[in-house]
Amino acid sequence: MELKGKVTVVTGGAVRVGRALTLALAGEGCHVFIHYGRSAGPAQQTAAEARKLGVEAHIHRANLAEAEETQSVIPAAVERFGRVDILINSAAIFPEEDSFSTTDLSLWEKLFAINLRAPFLLSRAFGSQVPAEGEGKIVNVLDARLRRPAPDHFVYRLTKGGLWHMTEMLAHELAPRITVNGVALGAILPPPGADRSYLDSLAQTQVPLKRAGSAEIVADNVLHLLHHDFLTGVVIPIDGGQFL
Ligand SMILES: NC(=O)c1ccc[n+]([C@@H]2O[C@H](COP(=O)([O-])OP(=O)(O)OC[C@H]3O[C@@H](n4cnc5c(N)ncnc54)[C@H](OP(=O)(O)O)[C@@H]3O)[C@@H](O)[C@H]2O)c1
Repeated sequence: MELKGKVTVVTGGAVRVGRALTLALAGEGCHVFIHYGRSAGPAQQTAAEARKLGVEAHIHRANLAEAEETQSVIPAAVERFGRVDILINSAAIFPEEDSFSTTDLSLWEKLFAINLRAPFLLSRAFGSQVPAEGEGKIVNVLDARLRRPAPDHFVYRLTKGGLWHMTEMLAHELAPRITVNGVALGAILPPPGADRSYLDSLAQTQVPLKRAGSAEIVADNVLHLLHHDFLTGVVIPIDGGQFL
């Protein structure tokens, strides 16, 4: 797919990995519709940086824990740009305390709403506005830890596992009009508040390549999935071999 001039929605596109994806797409000439939840200031800054790359950029707030607000995203982008060609589902939450024995129903519901229901609602709204003869692309941001089952981050894993499965299911369901792929991240960015040395020391002991990744490496792989029209149902692990 030629990316120049395409309209892209990036959820959680204001900060961290989402921001890198937004700017990489803008660098390819895509107009960007930046969804954010709480990061209003960073969303404005990211939009300003995207505009410097010569594309149109708009921001849109929606709490993805709320179905109605989630359902506002694609129609708002269509109102702005007339259509959406690419959807990147990057927004998610990753609670520290999330085990089989301690999780409670409200955390369960919040995680499923943000990490799985939102990509479902957005993908459906996205799919319904791609014309019968048009082409669209969805990329879901997953987690490479799913390659190695373990009981940590119990509900989070279930939601990302569901999204991984949904990636493959929708690759069937939406073909041939729309391709659906994913990137599964390992040690890419330290948790908010921690610095890079946290990831570097983790990488020394846990990552076969003995280094952490970066948001730019994620963006390169997403661009690869978007450029190549014969890829669908593909999930690229970006984890330096950590979860082999
Ligand atoms: N960082 C890593 O190394 C790593 C590793 C594995 C997987 N991943 C995956 O990569 C993606 C991005 O990771 P990240 O570390 O950049 O994420 P992050 O720093 O945790 O940021 C979360 C993003 O999701 C959005 N978000 C969260 N709850 C929301 C809500 N209720 N409504 C609307 N937006 C909401 C946030 O938007 P606002 O700030 O605007 O609220 C923010 O953009 C996620 O899917 C994550 O699971 C990341």
